[in-house]
Formats: sequence, structure tokens, C-alpha cells
Amino acid sequence: MNARVIIRPAVKEDQEAISRLRVEALPETREGGYSQGQRVHWAASGPTAPTQQMLNEGCVLVATCGPSMIACNGLDLDRQEIVGLFVSPAYQSQGLGRRMVVSTERLAIQYGLTQLRVQALKPEVGFYQACGYKPLTGNKSIVDHHATLQFVPMHRSFSQRQTRYSWRIANLLKHIGIPEDYGVKRRLKLQPECRELATIEVTDQGREHMLKPDAALAWYRMRNAADDEGVTLQVASAFRSVGYQVSIIERKLHAGQPLEEILRVSAAPGYSEHHTGRALDITCPGFKPFEAFFENSAAFEWLTGSAANFGFSLSYPRNNYHQIAYEPWHWLYRP
Ligand code: DAL
Ligand code: ZN
Repeated sequence: MNARVIIRPAVKEDQEAISRLRVEALPETREGGYSQGQRVHWAASGPTAPTQQMLNEGCVLVATCGPSMIACNGLDLDRQEIVGLFVSPAYQSQGLGRRMVVSTERLAIQYGLTQLRVQALKPEVGFYQACGYKPLTGNKSIVDHHATLQFVPMHRSFSQRQTRYSWRIANLLKHIGIPEDYGVKRRLKLQPECRELATIEVTDQGREHMLKPDAALAWYRMRNAADDEGVTLQVASAFRSVGYQVSIIERKLHAGQPLEEILRVSAAPGYSEHHTGRALDITCPGFKPFEAFFENSAAFEWLTGSAANFGFSLSYPRNNYHQIAYEPWHWLYRP
């Protein structure tokens, strides 16, 4: 039976296989082509090589079939560009390249992008045209110092592929005065709003804390395990709708806080992990919720050592690249 093709973000262990694939799939050109040495050098450091940053940000995609890596490419968020799409020769002309392009566009849409560019090699122009890309005139193409390959800059707008949700969020950002490139600049993805929620707790004030059912189960298991070891974990915040996130930000704006300062502690509506029903703000007796001092609690120490066993991880460590303040209390269920 044929193994299934899986497209997924690359991890650092994939790097060697990506380089091998890039060497194997690099096309010969009539204008000289590459020597083997040039091919290897190009695979590792040519202008379309995936960067470490792209890899860390989940913006290198690979397709695997069983143990084999059969396609790879990158998404350069800053340049809004697909880079280095390579398909293993044995898997070419079977629609895999197109699937990689569609997956990359999906990822771009999650960051709020509405268009992508690509520097296509001349023989690839037809393929990208079939994917909806059009040649751009008047744009500088990238320079390849290792061979005389010619690239054609191409472009596709996929604003029509935005979902109703992403339109809604784009309009909300505009209304609040948050730049439309917020997601890309902060490397934050749109977070879907969870519809199926389980109540995990009702506060004395009657506020319901809710989570997605699988996250709720994991929370109960984690809380009980901590309890068995004499550590009390309490919920400070769980699911938050987009509308609720808007009201938090508007309340702070009305209180006179600058937007930039607000966005260091509150994600923009649409970009908060709390929308997914999988994020939890945790506190414990004797500590004020939402304060970094929580890192000195026995609860935080316990979470640091054990939360991963229950599928929870810290989303915003110190100096995170999302420009969000350190949040030792914010844990995401990401099993
Ligand atoms: N405080 C986190 C970043 C949020 O608002 O989702
Ligand atoms: Zn939180």
C-alpha cells in the first residue's frame, strides 16, 4: 500500500533531509547549470535556502511519504514570499507542488497576509501561473551568484480566499487602530474562536470559566495531580471570545493606556490563544493573578516541571519574539 503524503512544518531534525532534497531536485539549466559542488553549496546557502528563523517560526513546510522527504519550501513572512519550493523528481507532475503552494498560502492567511510573491525559475513560470500567480513587471529579481539562472518575479493576491472570520478580525483591527500587519510583525497567527465549550468552574461572582472539552479534561488531570502533591492551581481566565477581547482592549483605551502598551499584555482580537478554548491563565492562593511575581510560587515551579506531562506549555516566556510581556501564568494545551 502506498504511504500517505503528509505536509507539515519542518523541525530542526529535518534540516539534513531538506538539503539533500534541494540538491536532488535542483533543475538543470540550459545556461550552464550547476556543478555538484555548486549544488551542495546552493542547497545550504542559496538565495532560496530556508533560514533558521523560518524554521523556528514553523514557516518551512515539508512533505513526507513514509520515511522519505519528498517536497519542501519556505514562507518568508517579511518579504511575503514563497521560497525554495522543491519536489523530489519521482513525485513531480502529480499535484504535490500545488499542494505545497496551497498549504503555504493557508499559513500566510493565518498570519493575515492577503498576497504572496514568488521568484520563479523560468521553467516554473507555467506551474505558478496554473497556481494563480502572475508575472510582476518592474520588480527586481533575486541574483544568484552561483549560476546563470533567471528568475521571474510573480505575484498572487488571495484576498478572495479570506474567511469571514479573517475579514471580521481585519475590520476589528482597523476599528481599534491596530496595523493590518500586526500578525506578521509579531509572528502571531489568527486563532480560531472555539464553539464547543465545557464549563470548568463558576466563580463566586458567577463568571463561568470555560475550555474546549479536551483541554478541560487535561486541566482537571493536571490540577488534581498538582493537588495530590500539595500544590493548588486556580483558574484566573480561560476561554475568551473575540468580543470579550475587544472589550478588554477598549476598556484599557478608555482608561487612557497607549495602544502599544496594551498590546504588550493583551493580544489583538483574533490573535489571542484564549479564543481557542485551550489557553489558561493560572494563579494560586497568596498570589495576585496576572503578575510576573507568580514565577516565585510553588505552583509555577510545579508547572515548570510537570505541565508538559499534561500537554500544557508556556506561551510567552521572557523576551519572546511576539513582543508580548513575560506571562508565567499563561499556559496553552498543545498536546
Ligand atoms: N495576554 C495574552 C497575550 C492574551 O491576551 O491572549
Ligand atoms: Zn492568558
